[in-house]
Amino acid sequence: MIILGLWDGHDAGAALFVDGTLVAAVNEERFTRRKLEVAFPLRSIGVCCDLAGVRPDQVDVVAACTTDVAKTLARALPATKEAYYQIRRRKASPGRWMAARKRAKYRLTEWPPNAASRALSAALLRRAIRHAGLTRARLRIYDHHECHAIAAALASRFDACAVLTLDGVGDGLSSTVSTFSDGQLVRIAATPARHSLGILFEHVTNLLNMRELEDEGKVMALADHASPVPDADNPLIELIAVADLRFATAHPGHALMPILRRLLWHYPNEQFAAMAQRALEHACVRMAREVVARTGLKYLALAGGVASNVKVSRRIRLLSEVSDVFVFPHMGDGGLALGAALLAAREQGQRTTIPIDDLGGREPREAAQEATDRLMAEIARLEATL
Ligand SMILES: [Fe+2]
Repeated sequence: MIILGLWDGHDAGAALFVDGTLVAAVNEERFTRRKLEVAFPLRSIGVCCDLAGVRPDQVDVVAACTTDVAKTLARALPATKEAYYQIRRRKASPGRWMAARKRAKYRLTEWPPNAASRALSAALLRRAIRHAGLTRARLRIYDHHECHAIAAALASRFDACAVLTLDGVGDGLSSTVSTFSDGQLVRIAATPARHSLGILFEHVTNLLNMRELEDEGKVMALADHASPVPDADNPLIELIAVADLRFATAHPGHALMPILRRLLWHYPNEQFAAMAQRALEHACVRMAREVVARTGLKYLALAGGVASNVKVSRRIRLLSEVSDVFVFPHMGDGGLALGAALLAAREQGQRTTIPIDDLGGREPREAAQEATDRLMAEIARLEATL
C-alpha cells in the first residue's frame, strides 16, 4: 500500500508511506529555492517517489487537507497565492489597497469549510494530482488540525497524552485540544479561527516591520532585548482569555491590528515584542494547565505554527503538573503532508512507523553538529582573547 500525503499551501510538501512506514518527507522550498514555497509540490512528489523507488502511477492513496473557503479560493486562483507570497516576502510592492485587502483576507480565513468549498477543493486537487502523474490514486481529504494533531501524537511516542494544536488558522479553527490514548485521537475542544493566537502574533510581527509567517521567531528573540515588563503593566495580556479549553481574543483577528498599532506607539519595538511574547506564554501556559487539570494527562504533544515558539513550549515543560512535552519537529503547515498521510494510513488499517530520528537524514544532522562544534570552538577562541 503506497500512500502519498501532500500539502499545497504555505511551505508546500509531500510525504510517502510504503506499507505503513514513512519512506520520505520533503518540502518544496528545497527544490525551488524559494523559502516556504507555496506552489503545488510537484517536485516533492517526484522526489518522494524516487526515494521510495515507486512510480507516481503506483500510488494507491493521495492524502491532502484543508478545504476552508480561503484555501479553496487559493487553489482555484493560484495567481493570488503567488501575489501574496511576493508581497509577504518583500519581493513586490503591496500597492495602495494592501491594508483593505489584508483585512478582507483575514476575514475570509475565518470562514470554515462548507459543502461548496469541500467539493471545489476536491475537484481542484483531483485535477492537480492527475497532472502530477498520480493517475491511479484515490483522493482523501482531512481536517487541517487533525493532521497537525495526529503527527504530534504519533511521533511523540507517548502511550497517552493530550494534544494541543496552537496555530494561525485552518479549516475555520485556530487551536484544538485532543486526547490520545490506545491509539485513538479524540478532539475535546476547539477555538474558532477568529480568536487566533497565531494571527495576533502575526500582526505583532508585521507591525515590527518583519515578515508574517516567517519572522515570528525573530520577534521572540527581540523580546530578550527588553527590560522585563510586569504583567500588570502589559495590556497585551488582557487581549487573550482562556476558558473551557478555548482561547478568546478580545477582538476578532481582523480587528486586532489597529488596536495593536495604537499600543505599539507607546513602546519601543523590543518592549512591544517582549509584551507580545509574554502574552503568548501567559495564554499558552494557562491553556496547558487547564488541559492537564481537565484531562488528567500529564504528557503533552504540541503542533501548529505557534508551537514553534520555543519559549512557550519551555514554559509549558517547566510546569510542575506537566511530566513531558513533545513538539512535532515540523510543527507548522509544512508538516501537514505527513499528518494527512498518517490519517490515510490509519484509515487503511496500516500500522504506521515514523523513523523520527532520521527525519532530515544523517548528513544534515552531521553537518549541523559540525557547524555547532565550529561555533563553540570560535566562541572559546574569542573568550581566550578577552
Ligand atoms: Fe496550520
